[in-house]
Amino acid sequence: MKSTLFAALFVAAGMTGAYAQSSSASRAPARAPQACHSVTPQTCAIANALGRGINLGNMLEAPVEGQWGVKLEPAYIDIVAGAFTTVRLPVRWSNHAAPTADATLDEAFAKRVDQVVDALLAKGVYVILDMHHYSQLSGSALHWNEFPVEPAVLEPRLVNMWRQIAVRYKDRSPKLLFELLNEPTGRLDGEPWNELAPQVLAVVRASNPTRTVLIGPGEWNGIPALSKLRLPADRNLIVSIHNYDPFPFTHQGVEHLATPFPVGATCCDAAQRKALTNALDTARKWSQEKGYPLHLGEFGTHHVADMKSRETYARMVRDEAERRGIGWTYWEFASPAFGMYSPKTGTWLEPIRRALLD
Ligand code: BGC
Repeated sequence: MKSTLFAALFVAAGMTGAYAQSSSASRAPARAPQACHSVTPQTCAIANALGRGINLGNMLEAPVEGQWGVKLEPAYIDIVAGAFTTVRLPVRWSNHAAPTADATLDEAFAKRVDQVVDALLAKGVYVILDMHHYSQLSGSALHWNEFPVEPAVLEPRLVNMWRQIAVRYKDRSPKLLFELLNEPTGRLDGEPWNELAPQVLAVVRASNPTRTVLIGPGEWNGIPALSKLRLPADRNLIVSIHNYDPFPFTHQGVEHLATPFPVGATCCDAAQRKALTNALDTARKWSQEKGYPLHLGEFGTHHVADMKSRETYARMVRDEAERRGIGWTYWEFASPAFGMYSPKTGTWLEPIRRALLD
């Protein structure tokens, strides 16, 4: 699990104290430009424009939309587009595709995704369309309601799903970005992902020669795995990273972890902040050496953490990412678990909203 990756670090870091810095638009950190010497001016401009974003999580990657406590209501499109410049759309294509190598997409489901993508693009936001929760591909335990497929068809299915998705959206605005796979891990770590990603990108490029594509490293898109990532020769790539440090704080009380973290951890003391800045500095150094810009695709907190700490954390990550020029998408909008908006009351969780956006 993601949890094991960073846990040791933060057990050592301690959980007390408060991250005292208050921030506001007037105190927003100076932004460094992204490193771009390996990408086109278009992709560089997009990486620098992604800015502040949100994941519409737990909606289209639930086994059935609505099953994880939240449906993607039309009103949400206006709400997120009014607040953010970028929306990441996690979609579990693999459960809506044939179990065979051809992975023929279920047309009714794909039409539902079209509807959401087009509604978001019509609002002018960047849309990152993601392949989420194809867990068997990474050798992870099957996700809730994930249907198993023959091991031999796992990778061809990924390639063939993208072949269809890419053709489907080939004429959409360049503001639509593709993200090849959320959080590759386990059996994909290292070389297997380095070998599979170019095959997927090749089918995307057959119909979308210049669209900006996001690829992240293995180990759950972990920053430590950047050093093992070998990117395909392509000048329209942004590299996606995820970071949930301090993990025992952000994931406290998450029940599906092998060893759940106790509730009560707070954030963010100097050591916790230092761990984050070290990680982001590592990512930025990698980006500067390789010339590919970065995007922080996920960070966020489980609802059981205390609200003051959730606010402090959100502001800390926002500020530290932005100081390094890295655009981000918060995990996530409205699910009961990590959400920052209450579908029940129709209001933002104000401390998190202001931490991210004011
Ligand atoms: C997963 C979510 C999870 C979140 C935080 C995401 O990548 O899709 O199910 O809540 O990470 O762990």
